[in-house]
Order: sequence, then C-alpha cells, then structure tokens
Amino acid sequence: MNYFVTTSIPYVNGPPHIGHALEFIMADVLARAARAEKKPVIFSTGTDEHGGKIADKAAEVGKDVKIFADEMSQQFRGLAKALNISNDRFIRTTDAGHEQRAQIIWKNLAKDIYKGTYVGLYCTGCEAFVTEAVAKENKGTCPHHQKPYEKLEEENYFFKLSVYAPEILKAIESGSFEILPQSRKHEILHVIKSGLEDISISRPKEKLTWGIAVPGDENQVMYVWFEALMNYLTVLGYPEHDDYLKFWPANVQVVGKDILRFHAAIWPGMLLGLGLPLPKKLYVHGFITVNNQKMSKSLGNVIPPQDIINAYGVDAMRYYFLRHIPAYDDGDFSWAKLHAAYNNELANELGNCVQRTAAMIVSYQKGIIGDSPPPEHDIAAYSEALEHCRFDRALDEVWDQVRGLNQYIDEQKPWEINKQGDSEHLREVLAYQVSCLLQIAELLAPLLPETATKIQYIFGEGVVRPIEGTLFPRKEHTPDAANVSEAPGK
Ligand code: MSP
Repeated sequence: MNYFVTTSIPYVNGPPHIGHALEFIMADVLARAARAEKKPVIFSTGTDEHGGKIADKAAEVGKDVKIFADEMSQQFRGLAKALNISNDRFIRTTDAGHEQRAQIIWKNLAKDIYKGTYVGLYCTGCEAFVTEAVAKENKGTCPHHQKPYEKLEEENYFFKLSVYAPEILKAIESGSFEILPQSRKHEILHVIKSGLEDISISRPKEKLTWGIAVPGDENQVMYVWFEALMNYLTVLGYPEHDDYLKFWPANVQVVGKDILRFHAAIWPGMLLGLGLPLPKKLYVHGFITVNNQKMSKSLGNVIPPQDIINAYGVDAMRYYFLRHIPAYDDGDFSWAKLHAAYNNELANELGNCVQRTAAMIVSYQKGIIGDSPPPEHDIAAYSEALEHCRFDRALDEVWDQVRGLNQYIDEQKPWEINKQGDSEHLREVLAYQVSCLLQIAELLAPLLPETATKIQYIFGEGVVRPIEGTLFPRKEHTPDAANVSEAPGK
C-alpha cells in the first residue's frame, strides 16, 4: 500500500535545466497518482553535492564549496516549487543526517569492502572510473566532457560488486526488479552479462577533501556516487526510522538514461550487500535536446525552466514535457513546438471545451448545471499507461476524451437546442458535458494539477463559478524558435 517514489539527485555544479525539470515532473505525476489512490506516499528529491566536479566548480567561481552548494541547492528547491512538484522530502547529501547514515551504511557493508590499489582512469565530469576498453574506444578523451581522462594510481576501498552479479541478473530477468522501458532492461542485462567488476568506492583525502569521511580511515573519503546512491535509504531514516521500515523498497525510482548503470547494477549490488530488497521498478527516461541539438553551455542553448513557466505557465510546460517528450525515448524541445502544442491542444481543444460549456450554462441556464450520471468512459488504458510510466499515452487517453467531448458538442449543437426551446434536453446535454469535464479533470489531476483544480472549481459545485481569466488563452506571439536566447521570459 505505501508508496515511495524518488528522482535522482542532481549535481549542484550548475543551475537547473529542462532535463532536471523533466525528471521532477515525471516523478511528480507518479506521486500524485498514488495519492489519488489514497496510498500513503513519500516522494523524495534533493541534491548531490560532494565530489571533485562540484569542488572544482566552486573553486572556479571563487566560492567556498559549501556556500556554493547551498546557493545551488536552493535553486533546485525553487525549481521544484515553481513546477508545482509535490515532493515530501528534499535531501541534500551535505545534510548531517545523510552523512551520519551514509557512514552507518558503509559499516553495514564492511564484509564486502576491501582495500586495494586503483590503477586506471577517471573522468571528474562524469564522476566515473573508466575502464581501459572504454578509454581506448574514446581515444583517451571523455566524449561527454571533451577532457582527457585523468590517470589515477591510488589506494582505494573496493566494493565486491562482482559477487552480486548473478543475483542482480536474476532479479532483472525475472522482473522482480522491473526496468522500464524494455530497451534499457536489455542494455543493462548486456552490461551485467559482459561482467561486473568490483568497484572503487573511495578517494584519498590528499586528492579530494570534499566528501564524506570513510569510517575508521581519516585518509579516505567516500566516492561520490557510492554515497549519493545511499540517499534513497538515508532520506527514509535507514536503518531505524519508521519511514524506512514502512516505505522501503521504493515503488519507482525515476532516472535518466545516462545513469542507468549506477541504478541498475551498482545500487542493487549495494542493497543486496545490505540484505535489503531491491526497488520494485526503475523507470529510465530519455534525454531532451533543444532544436534537435544537445544542450550545452558553449552552444548557449541551455533553457532555464523558469523561462518556459514565465512564458506559458506551469501546466503548459508540464503538458509539453509529459506528452511531447516520448516517455520511452529521447525528445526535443523548441519554442515553436511548445507554442503550437499550447494553441492547438491546450487552448483550442481543452480550453475551448471548458470555455464554451461554462459560457452556455451561464447564458442559457443562469449558471445552474443540473444532474447527469458520470460518463461511461473506460479508463483502463489510462491507468495502465501511468502504471508503466507512459505519461505520453496517459495524456493521449485524456485527449481522446477531450476531442470526443468537443465532437459531442459540435454534433448536439446546444445553441440550436436552446433556440428550439427544449430546456429539458438542453439541461441534459450541458450536464453531460460537465460530467465529462469533471472526469477529464480527475484524470488530469496528477499530470496538470493546476488545470484540474480550475476545472473542478468551475464545475464542481452545481453552479458555474467563474475563474479569473480563461483557461489557456490563445497566444498570438510566436517565439523565435531559431533564437532561443530571444525567447520570451528573458
Ligand atoms: N548526481 C547524479 C545523480 C545521482 S543519483 C544518486 C547526476 N546528476 S545530474 O545533474 O547530472 O543529472 C540528474 C538527472 O538529470 C539525471 O537523471 C539525468 O539523466 C537527467 N538529465 C540531465 N540532462 C538531461 C537531459 N538533457 N534530458 C533529460 N534528462 C537529463 O547524474
């Protein structure tokens, strides 16, 4: 019954972008849908604040690293609020509680931890140890960060991940640890079958001080990924808190495709080492491009989520990200596409249907709605879509109802019925429109919460109640899609 859903915790080396927004929005839908089913929910998000990547960035901008992390973390909190994200927790890996509990987890994994020497490569941009094979394939330079891999030869602690490979494989293959979409499941099965090696899980303090101390060894700090993954347990108060006892294992963990290996191989290994059950589901979303280009600071096409919210409103942003970014694939954002979706789907279809229904009831019936049985629409496909994190399909299902309702109105022509003076029939037709809209609102609630509330407010009390302005008023101005920096909101 209890439902625990998480996002990954973004690094604080830069401000939030629309990729982070996508993940927040998707996880939020799951949390809200579970609450609508009356399940007790814990929805957690937060920030990942240790490691060389953040220490380097703070040094670059000349700030104390903790102060820098504080400022950046606050921006992610702000993003969650601006997007109407209903997270119950916001964990920071610099929270004292996380640090203490991470040390407990380390100690509880002691039987699987040993000391060794790591000789190999590292990319601070990825915060990842890189195998010779991968380095060779990439000719010694990280393709994501365009920086040569750093050669490391240092004493580290290692975690016996290799021991758990068969059990992880079995859990994924059997579906007891479900990975969505299937393509990602196959990808990780391939990785695990090619051999999981033990992993390095600490860094010498002389090279990196910005991390959580390894218990019992003042010369080492924990490898950032190793302790960041632990946030999913520390946020619940592992090992003793009631929330942990009631909410672990997580129902769904939402992550991006670039961090699949950490969540579907290393993290399950850690959990098995602790003797804990694996999460029930790992949902892996794709990447967003902007005008079909990878977002990057050098291209200057990184879009602050707040710009989209300012220009089109939070639910329009949620709508675009949930329906027009494919749930199981990569997707693209452009101002022009958002603009078209806004006018064609939100204004002309949903907005118009709410608007004309309300207007007719006000002008023909003094605002009095009348009774109608709830519509008999089958919502199985909608529920199944959400169960499988197919947010795009869930919205397709809702939109089938919106289009169906518009068609019903066009066919019934309530304005003609009004002219003919058949007030009983008119009342039936208009009341039916309202019941359809109330069902649409219910289905929209996890996806576009503000819109759902507005529709419920307008029609929910038997009399049409006006709202300020209209729902999704048409926008004439088309932002310049070719020049993102001139987008509205700047
Ligand atoms: N700090 C780690 C996660 C640790 S979880 C224990 C990290 N941070 S991140 O800031 O780089 O990424 C956070 C999330 O944003 C990841 O799920 C990542 O896939 C996602 N995205 C980053 N860029 C993205 C896009 N362009 N598009 C969609 N999501 C993207 O990884």
